Amino acid sequence: MDGNGRWALDRGKPRTAGHRAGAEAVRRTVEAAASLGIGTLTLYAFSSDNWRRPAGEVRALMRLFRAYLARETARCVEQGVRLSVIGRRDRLDLPLRRAIEAAEAATAGGRTLHLRLAVDYSSRDALLQAAGRWRRPFPPSRAAFAELIAEAIHATGGLPDVDLLIRTGGEQRLSDFLLWECAYAELFFTPRLWPDFGPADLEAALTEYRRRERRFGGLGPSSLQATSPEPPPSVAASARRFADSADDAVQDDCPPAASPAPKRISLTA
Ligand code: FPP
Repeated sequence: MDGNGRWALDRGKPRTAGHRAGAEAVRRTVEAAASLGIGTLTLYAFSSDNWRRPAGEVRALMRLFRAYLARETARCVEQGVRLSVIGRRDRLDLPLRRAIEAAEAATAGGRTLHLRLAVDYSSRDALLQAAGRWRRPFPPSRAAFAELIAEAIHATGGLPDVDLLIRTGGEQRLSDFLLWECAYAELFFTPRLWPDFGPADLEAALTEYRRRERRFGGLGPSSLQATSPEPPPSVAASARRFADSADDAVQDDCPPAASPAPKRISLTA
């Protein structure tokens, strides 16, 4: 959710005004995601490195999170949105921790959309925590490790792989966000500043996502098509051999590439 600060500066306002406008964009985006049938929406609200910001900005953000939880919980219940917060809790103040627990309890039955707010979140720290909790003399399976990461960040709904990551504000990096879960995420970058982000931007990102061919390391339709109109015979022959051997190599335990537009996608911003 990048661009709050610049949005405010462009209007001659303090950065905190940008964060308040960002909270409105959160409300709009959650509503749009629910109506578009998104399964999980994870919003990067405050990274563990954001503690380095000026104390006044940090205080304003924490107040904003609390106000959002107080104001939006009832609406989440109405809309069937389950709200949870991932990240560390021990550095949050008590009133915010209580507000998180209350919102999570009140919305636990939501089935339309799982909204996750990442607060005091660091993917690297989560991975280190998970590694530190593994006690056996052999490496964990991916599933077992994912459970440990989920525990480390209070992710009670498990650790869904991210299908689509949207980054606003023109930045093009991951910034320590969901590194494990984004292994095969499609990345979408937009110059739109977060407070200006709305349903049309979300739909544009989804349209682009549906155009992508997700192969998960396997082969998709485009892998088997020659890219030049008349490939030299030797290239065409080797492409055919590759396709044939790939067919032979498909095993029952090897998952096929997913369809390009799964119905309940996991999305982050
Ligand atoms: C990054 O953009 C944004 C943040 C660190 C805060 C995100 C918080 C909100 C959108 C507020 C509301 C959130 C909830 C969940 C109610 P930036 O401030 O660094 O902007 P810049 O890149 O223009 O400096």
